[in-house]
Amino acid sequence: MKAFRTIMGGLCLCAVLGSCASAPQKEEATAKTDETNRTEAVLETIMTRRSIRQYKPQAVNRDTMQIILNCGINAPNGQNKQSWEVRVVDNPDFINGLTDIYKKYNPKATEDPTFKNMFRNAPTVVFIAHDTKYDLSQIDCGLLGENMILSAWSMGIGSCCLGGPTRFLTSTPEAAEYLKKLDIPARYELLYCIGFGYPDEAPAAKPRNTAKVKFID
Ligand SMILES: Cc1cc2nc3c(=O)[nH]c(=O)nc-3n(C[C@H](O)[C@H](O)[C@H](O)COP(=O)(O)O)c2cc1C
Repeated sequence: MKAFRTIMGGLCLCAVLGSCASAPQKEEATAKTDETNRTEAVLETIMTRRSIRQYKPQAVNRDTMQIILNCGINAPNGQNKQSWEVRVVDNPDFINGLTDIYKKYNPKATEDPTFKNMFRNAPTVVFIAHDTKYDLSQIDCGLLGENMILSAWSMGIGSCCLGGPTRFLTSTPEAAEYLKKLDIPARYELLYCIGFGYPDEAPAAKPRNTAKVKFID
C-alpha cells in the first residue's frame, strides 16, 4: 500500500511538472526499498517468533487484541466459510477459577515455582472452536491462529499455542461451567487455545528437522 501510494504520488507529481525524465528510476528504487523492507519485516517476524511461557502480569490491551483478532479472521479459509468460533478471555476470575480445578487434577504442575495458571501463565487466552460438520475446519482454525500469533509477535506480544488446556476443559465435568461460559454453538467443538501476553522471557529457538522437507523432481 505504501509502495502503491509512493508510485501514485510520483505519477501525480510528473503530471504537474510536465516532465519526469529521471523520475521513473527514483520511483522504482523507492518501491523496491518498500518491498525489501516488507519482506524483511515478515521474515524477521516468522523467524524470531518463539513460544512464550512467562509473561508480565497484565492482560494484553484490548485495542491491541482487536488488531490481532482482525488479523486472525483475515486468514485464508475454505470457501470463506470462516468455520471458526473465537472467544477471548482476559478475566482473571475465569482463568484462575479454572486453574484451581486444573490444580486438583494436576497437583504436580504447582511444584514449578513459575506456575501462575494452566494456560502457560498467559493473562489473555483466545479459545478457538472448529465446525464439526466441515472437514477442513481444523485447517481454517490453524491458519487463523498462526495469523494471530505472528501479528502479535510483530507488535511485541508473545504467545503459546496450547492443546492441553482445551483437552482438560472439554473432558473434565467439574470444568463444565467454564465451558458453558464460552458459549460455543452446538455444531462447534473447542479445538485449541492460544495464550497471549507481554513476554517476560526470551527463549532460544527450538531446532527444526530440515530433512523432513524435500523437493521432488
Ligand atoms: C497444536 C499445538 C499444541 C500445543 N500445545 C502445547 C501445550 O499444551 N503446552 C505447551 O507448553 N506448548 C504447546 N505447544 C507449543 C509447542 O510446544 C511449540 O510450538 C514447539 O515446541 C516449538 O517451539 P516454538 O513455538 O518456540 O518454535 C503447542 C503447539 C501446537 C502447534
